[in-house]
Amino acid sequence: MKPVLKAVNVHKQFGASAVLRGVHFELERGQVHAVLGSNGAGKSTLMNIFSGILAPDSGELLLDGVPCYFSDARAARREGIAMVHQELSLVPAMTVAENIFLTRWNDGWTKFVDEAAMMRAAAALLARFEIVLDPQQAVSELTRAQQQLLEIAKALSGKVRVLILDEPSANLSAAELELLYQTVRRLSLQGLAIIYITHRLRDVFEVCNALSILRDGRIQHMLPVDATSPQAVLTLLAAQLPADWVPRKHMPMQEAAPLLQLHAKDERHPALTVVPGQIVGLSGDSASALLETIFGLQPLTDYTLSLCGHAVQISHPSEAITHGLHLVPGDRRRAGLVMDLSVSENILLSLFERISSSLLIDEARGQRIVSGLLHRLGWRADDPAREARELSGGHQQKVLMARALSTEGRILLLDEPGSGMDVQAQAMLWQTVRHYAEQGNAVLMASTDAAMLAAVCDTCHVVDSNGIGPPLAAAAGQHALLGALHGTPVVTRYQ
Ligand SMILES: Nc1ncnc2c1ncn2[C@@H]1O[C@H](COP(=O)(O)OP(=O)(O)OP(=O)(O)O)[C@@H](O)[C@H]1O
Ligand SMILES: [Mg+2]
Repeated sequence: MKPVLKAVNVHKQFGASAVLRGVHFELERGQVHAVLGSNGAGKSTLMNIFSGILAPDSGELLLDGVPCYFSDARAARREGIAMVHQELSLVPAMTVAENIFLTRWNDGWTKFVDEAAMMRAAAALLARFEIVLDPQQAVSELTRAQQQLLEIAKALSGKVRVLILDEPSANLSAAELELLYQTVRRLSLQGLAIIYITHRLRDVFEVCNALSILRDGRIQHMLPVDATSPQAVLTLLAAQLPADWVPRKHMPMQEAAPLLQLHAKDERHPALTVVPGQIVGLSGDSASALLETIFGLQPLTDYTLSLCGHAVQISHPSEAITHGLHLVPGDRRRAGLVMDLSVSENILLSLFERISSSLLIDEARGQRIVSGLLHRLGWRADDPAREARELSGGHQQKVLMARALSTEGRILLLDEPGSGMDVQAQAMLWQTVRHYAEQGNAVLMASTDAAMLAAVCDTCHVVDSNGIGPPLAAAAGQHALLGALHGTPVVTRYQ
């Protein structure tokens, strides 16, 4: 049987760095084909070539055995190759239906100034792929998982042979993951060939039936999923975990004064306490919102905040920073990286006070701090002088984390800190975050990944519409973290 999509000896170079060096790849009918590889391995680059966004320097693509060349993404779409990108591209103020048809004006959809007809077409499309979304709902009201499903629906609004999903499961909770898995399985049964990029091994063993590993510019292994195991895949990925990577837990110092506390109105006992040295996890629907509230992005209504034992009111992020707080938001494009600045400049943004005296900036000192931090986060070949926009998704996240860890602040508020990072980079991140806490600082960390929180944090709280839940001691060790890194479900043992 001819593969639906075949790549023969594909090469791609950016400047002097050769990212793809002779990729051979085959996607068969009926496959959900996982593509794995460390941050910067070239996964998104290869997919951008398949979907016409980038041209290969050399090599050939064949669709159902026919050689093809795509001048742009539109040409690839006409041939039935659709891609959902790593960074979502929805317009929050528009409805589900408007987002679906947004990019299709040139295909004759302009007749849809007729609102009702557009709603009907969107509803029919969603029904055809059994995606449960209301066409009239505003995108800003959707959960992250619903947005991901909407992106998939958008990609499917035309004739599609090959669907490419670039890290669709990032930042989804366990229940949301299930929704995504169901949709992918259903689409596969409907005859779509799917490429599924992920760092989460659980995805591979839940929904994929073939897997390829991209390393050193080539597909090194292409095999059926039922012929392998999570452990074997880790070995193939050559993920090297640091020798002492098992996360340490906090050793409570006697009577350490709390760095941060939240009290519910009229309650004597604090709802949440963070002492120096502690990493406290937040999970649940309102976990990210709580971080933004503490940082002054939203008004704090139900609680009062104390820092170092003093009640404070923070109504703007600038005040939060003055109080030694630093937030790493969940969406690195919307609020975080300055895409036009280089990697070092992005990190140095938070360091100016430390490396400047009067008007002089000690550039050498700045560079030393930058390279030290990047090294600790497992930064390998990439040059810190490169613009942030050119970095792979996982590397962008590392820059954000390096910046956060270099601030003078004592309290880090992290939203999905490991997002998009490969297995090895995450292990190094948790080690670095622990090191930061052990210097007398504190970390509040929100994540949808309960197993990860249990493994890394000292205590966890569930935060939802009922407010902040009671503290749960997270008992976990190497077993739990390894499970979390694999993304395999482990029993989350809260005491
Ligand atoms: N437009 C560009 N200009 C220069 N370099 C680029 C560009 N796009 C990607 N690169 C580089 O190519 C390499 C591969 O990037 P790519 O985004 O394909 O990695 P990835 O495997 O998707 O990683 P991740 O898991 O972090 O998303 C990286 O070193 C990246 O910096
Ligand atoms: Mg990528």
